[in-house]
Amino acid sequence: MKVISQIKQPVDKEMELFEKKFFESMSSKVALLNRITHYIVNRKGKQMRPMFVFLVAKMVSEGSVNERTYRGASVIELIHTATLVHDDVVDDSNRRRGFFSINALWKNKIAVLVGDYLLSKGLLLSIDNNDFDLLKIISVAVKEMSEGELLQIEKARRLDITEAVYYDIIRQKTATLIAACCSLGAASVKPESNEIAKMRRFGELIGMAFQIKDDLFDYGTEKIGKPTGIDIKEQKMTLPLIYVLNNVEKEEKAWIINSVKNYNKDKKRVREVIILVKERGGLEYAVNKMKEFQKEALLILEGYPQTPYRESLELMVNYVIERKK
Ligand code: IPE
Ligand code: IPE
Ligand code: MG
Ligand code: MG
Repeated sequence: MKVISQIKQPVDKEMELFEKKFFESMSSKVALLNRITHYIVNRKGKQMRPMFVFLVAKMVSEGSVNERTYRGASVIELIHTATLVHDDVVDDSNRRRGFFSINALWKNKIAVLVGDYLLSKGLLLSIDNNDFDLLKIISVAVKEMSEGELLQIEKARRLDITEAVYYDIIRQKTATLIAACCSLGAASVKPESNEIAKMRRFGELIGMAFQIKDDLFDYGTEKIGKPTGIDIKEQKMTLPLIYVLNNVEKEEKAWIINSVKNYNKDKKRVREVIILVKERGGLEYAVNKMKEFQKEALLILEGYPQTPYRESLELMVNYVIERKK
């Protein structure tokens, strides 16, 4: 497997400058905020979203990016960061990127406000520069992500959740932002072109695969920098469990339902559920679905000339499903 540094190579220069701009975009006169944003940028994530922005921009424009591309990448990463800060409050999670989450260190009140601050800084970065076409793409994503999180709260704890509803949830909470990365990358260099919609679909497919992978991590025991095994504890049904619930015999199904309903905080019982999900092919099923999304995404790239940017995007698609964190 190619490592991310190799995949990043065609946009190395852009990513370096991006990091500087991204950090500057968070600055505030409030000392507490600055302390927290410092904490955040010193524990950066994989930065896959800005990479998608730059790689797509360069692929559709024979290698050129502009200031709009940089601003777009910063806005996306600001919004991504804001949603993670909020997500850890919502999920009551104390680890992120291998360190304490913001809510673990500063409590929920401060985490909610910091998330709002990052979100507003993102929106202002677009507004102050009249990037209204990009702002539209981003605002749609923000709206859909909030809906997705709420849809998840409403539906994901229902033991009769269908696969279709699961896909709706992950499309809204995760795929929509990666779709925004790719369409924004295209829009930043080719406004009003038909590449924008095509790249949106490409990003959406990757985003679906990305979230299925994230949900698979929860069934594993690898160290990924955030807690695992918490979905069942939180009574969150994801694809492996949904599949198994719909494909086992009555008694087993009843046992799983009883476990998730009444013994979700019992670590031993949760481990037993996880083992059963594995035995009944839940992980395999989810992996196959993930690969279907991957394939469809790669198909879209086939319409583009063979450039280092296209090649890196292909590798990114593969990285999404093979990654270790
Ligand atoms: C985590 O996204 C949130 C999900 C949508 C699953 P990433 O895995 O891209 O997070 P970082 O930025 O690398 O930490
Ligand atoms: C991802 O949700 C965060 C958003 C899309 C807002 P999860 O709760 O599934 O992701 P992790 O596992 O905490 O990163
Ligand atoms: Mg969550
Ligand atoms: Mg979470």
